[in-house]
Amino acid sequence: MHQLPTVTPFFADKQQLLSEILGRYPNYGQRSALMPLLWEVQRAERHVSEARVAEIAEILGLHATEVKGAMSFYGTYHEHPVGRYHLQVCRTLSCALAGADEMADFLEDELDLVNGETDAEGRFSLQFVECLGSCGTAPVLQVNDTYFERVSRSRCRALVDAMRRDALPEPTRERGGDNEAAEPAVATEGGAT
Ligand code: FES
Repeated sequence: MHQLPTVTPFFADKQQLLSEILGRYPNYGQRSALMPLLWEVQRAERHVSEARVAEIAEILGLHATEVKGAMSFYGTYHEHPVGRYHLQVCRTLSCALAGADEMADFLEDELDLVNGETDAEGRFSLQFVECLGSCGTAPVLQVNDTYFERVSRSRCRALVDAMRRDALPEPTRERGGDNEAAEPAVATEGGAT
């Protein structure tokens, strides 16, 4: 008889973490733990699978459809794995005026990806997003949890080259033009969150 594969529950060996998260909320408000539980899974596995949705729903006494409904509201959560470097390009007004569309075109060409795709290697994924809340330092590119601000074309190219070497540079905030030399790369481990 064919046996269906079983999936070890994500929180099976994380009971302390689970208790800590649930303990932040009163008994009548345990469903408020939905976001942090989803985030723990997303950060570790780069997506939230059906099995994890069912697990979280059971923990919180929710229906899986309620969990998926919350997930679909936020671009943060993914049903399929994103890349080790998940690139989010803000395309809202301030960033658009500062060159976000050109940055998006450059990344699509350079990575051979379109919005929403992950490459075959699982290294890069690309997502266009709404305002990241850093409009004063537009255009903004978020790589995993890190903001890169005032991203000129030369900075964007240097950043992609650095990620290909798994050596993310320090985030930039200061003004820099396209004539600026590539940012020096710092040998920082660039794993996804
Ligand atoms: S418009 Fe891009 S961060 Fe606000």
